Amino acid sequence: MPIKSYKAINWNEVSDMIDKATWEKLTEQFWLDTRIPVSNDLDDWRELDTDHQWTVGHVFGGLTLLDTLQSQAGLTALKEDVQTPHETAVLNNIQFMESVHAKSYSTIFSTLNTPDEIKEIFDWSDSEEFLQNKAVKIGNIYLDESVDPLKKKIANVFLETFLFYSGFYTPLYYLGHNKLNNVAEIIKLILRDESVHGTYIGYKFQVGLKQRSEKQQQDLVDWLYNFLYELYDNEEKYTHLLYDQIGWTDDVLTFIRYNANKALMNLGQDPLFPDTSSDVNPVVMNGISTTTSNHDFFSQVGNGYRLGAVEAMSDSDYHVKDPNAGKSKNDKE
Ligand SMILES: [Fe+2]
Ligand SMILES: [Fe+2]
Repeated sequence: MPIKSYKAINWNEVSDMIDKATWEKLTEQFWLDTRIPVSNDLDDWRELDTDHQWTVGHVFGGLTLLDTLQSQAGLTALKEDVQTPHETAVLNNIQFMESVHAKSYSTIFSTLNTPDEIKEIFDWSDSEEFLQNKAVKIGNIYLDESVDPLKKKIANVFLETFLFYSGFYTPLYYLGHNKLNNVAEIIKLILRDESVHGTYIGYKFQVGLKQRSEKQQQDLVDWLYNFLYELYDNEEKYTHLLYDQIGWTDDVLTFIRYNANKALMNLGQDPLFPDTSSDVNPVVMNGISTTTSNHDFFSQVGNGYRLGAVEAMSDSDYHVKDPNAGKSKNDKE
């Protein structure tokens, strides 16, 4: 249908301050994969046996698939159901960063893996049963126009705050052992983004939920827990597939249950699993705590979180010391 007018976005009239705070947070933490010197990890990489190398490569193959899904159908679906124009702007930022995330694994692959290995990893990602299961379950919710938009937000938060973590475990584990530090740096930057994404989208879900009748709210919450069970069931199998050969499976499962509870928290719901941060391998928790990846974005308790910590420029900011001061003319160059 043709339109008669179009509305300009006014950032001087922001109805939901969470939009503005999230925009500032996300733009402040902007990054690109090309700035991280992954090749410095080659010595560590060569020390790993082939089983551990297999897990690292395929964990990143799985993460590539999920970030691809977010950068395409995931954020496109969310943009169909916004309450403010600023929400669209924030989602645009998130969508672009999901493309950066998806690309950054290729930066890692091109440094650590041979062309044949890279091809095998992508063939695996595009066909592996339990990985495809989760991508398809989530993707079908995004792509089906008849699905309640609040269910799309639930699916999005489950991906952001829960399904990535079977993969994040590996680089965080190596980081805790002072290995593959540059690879881990990329993953920490991704994790820091996903943490804000999950919190923001979870918040928008909670706003939308409050506008529904009591019956609809109950139905959505019932659906949410059922869907989480279904995803967890598949995630268990995926975790066995990736980690049985190196014996990390139980630790990874604890970690993903802990993060499933975080996803529920982002959606304003009660935890499902008994696992808390003290049950998670402390080496991995350490890796997380060195980032600004606080899951409590809005409560400002995270170690790196500063809401809108910017100030106006003043004259003194322009008083830059001349680096050549005190040198003779001939010393300058
Ligand atoms: Fe991402
Ligand atoms: Fe994300």
